[in-house]
Amino acid sequence: MAVQHRVRDLSLAPAGRHQIRLAEHEMPGLMALRERYTASQPLAGARIAGSIHMTVQTAVLIETLVALGAEVRWASCNIFSTDDAAAAAVVVGPSEQGGTPEDPRGVPVFAWKGETLEEYWECTDQIFRWDGVDGPNMILDDGGDATLLVHKGVEFEAAGAVPSAGEDDSEEYRVILETLRRSVAEDGQRFTRMAPGIKGVTEETTTGVHRLYEMQRAGTLLFPAMNVNDAVTKSKFDNTYGCRHSLVDGLNRATDVLIGGKTAVVCGYGDVGKGSAESLRGQGARVLVTEVDPICALQAAMDGYQVVRLEDVLDQAHIVITTTGCKDVITAEHLQGLRDKAIVGNIGHFDNEIDMAGLARVPGVQRTEIKPQVHEWTFPDGHSIIILSEGRLLNLGNATGHPSFVMSNSFSDQTIAQIELFTKPDEYPTGVHLLPKHLDEEVARLHLDALGAKLTELTKSQAEYLGVDVAGPYKPDHYKY
Ligand code: NAI
Repeated sequence: MAVQHRVRDLSLAPAGRHQIRLAEHEMPGLMALRERYTASQPLAGARIAGSIHMTVQTAVLIETLVALGAEVRWASCNIFSTDDAAAAAVVVGPSEQGGTPEDPRGVPVFAWKGETLEEYWECTDQIFRWDGVDGPNMILDDGGDATLLVHKGVEFEAAGAVPSAGEDDSEEYRVILETLRRSVAEDGQRFTRMAPGIKGVTEETTTGVHRLYEMQRAGTLLFPAMNVNDAVTKSKFDNTYGCRHSLVDGLNRATDVLIGGKTAVVCGYGDVGKGSAESLRGQGARVLVTEVDPICALQAAMDGYQVVRLEDVLDQAHIVITTTGCKDVITAEHLQGLRDKAIVGNIGHFDNEIDMAGLARVPGVQRTEIKPQVHEWTFPDGHSIIILSEGRLLNLGNATGHPSFVMSNSFSDQTIAQIELFTKPDEYPTGVHLLPKHLDEEVARLHLDALGAKLTELTKSQAEYLGVDVAGPYKPDHYKY
């Protein structure tokens, strides 16, 4: 049967396949998991609804899940983050399967670069539509939108109607309600039937994990969840070293402005902020940091960054980057106060860090498209600022996201988390769980050889002295890294 899909252009598949082949070489963790588990097929019977940026690296993840026995349907978790060639290649499938653009034999993907919000939520809805069964039995999520759709679906089906407005007056929430209204009109028990069959969700990012803990606290979480983000090999690598690479990549592809000598403000000094500040400093920028948390502010100061308030440095900043996972970090007032041609971008998960709606409401402001995902906003006094990716994460909107090697760590965590939740339901009741530390260490171990790193082995007596096993885990759970 033809593979269902909605992607830009299947003829891009050969180009995507070349990139996937090179990415596989840079993703030793995922390839080792394929080698280890292809024979035993731990994900046989898993029907995974996936929502992560549809990049080249995600293509390697998808094909790893399939190699381990899973069936998969995929959407992107952002309207700008899809690599159209990678999406096409996943639909056509690996060459061994003999698929062609005319006869695709790969995995259903619903994603293209530059979706509208309506299209985005239709694509997310598509990953829950499985032929002949009630839906997926696993979710792999990034930012929590797929998880949100199921939870809201169940909530509104129980209420018998979708409200006309809700807790949030954003355009996005309006579109979510519209999507669910269509679904409920078509089948008022669709999500209610689906949810009990979902064995769990594995969540990729800080913001999605935040949503999961909120649902756990409120007692509304419907199935077990694995917090993949807080695996050490995820947040301390992808969030930091990934952004250290992809932030300047996005800035360069978007603007090609020399970063050296400029003043850059990084809002937030968590894992993403640390990598972002380092990347800008690496290019020779003078980097200032804003923080609300005294510990992170002190870390920034110790790392040599001046800690400031944004309103005090608007006239100095050539570049302002938000990395907070918080909302309204740069207000419309801040934006108007910035110097001429200041570049403003966000690398946090959602587009609410910069008040884009407030900017659009400034009387007399004009928006000019320089190129897709790069816009100049000109104020009535004639000065202008450049906004990247309309306030959405610029490393995926203006560039191609993190490089393969770092994503191999995150996606190995994801694959192992899927295996854990799918194969050991008794060990993970409804609630939010962390990946066991020995598996976290295992993911790191899978990446050492490729870098020529030689690990020292503890002797038995050294291990006893430290109170650990020779084979690990080497640190107590409270260790901070
Ligand atoms: P984090 O919690 O480690 O860091 C966020 C920091 O921002 C915290 O230190 C917090 O105190 C600070 N903060 C919060 N509100 C603030 C405000 N109003 N002003 C200044 N500072 C403020 O979170 P992490 O892991 O760094 O993630 C940040 C965001 O980036 C999340 O939305 C996450 O989902 C996203 N993310 C994006 C990636 C990408 O590739 N673009 C990769 C990984 C995470």
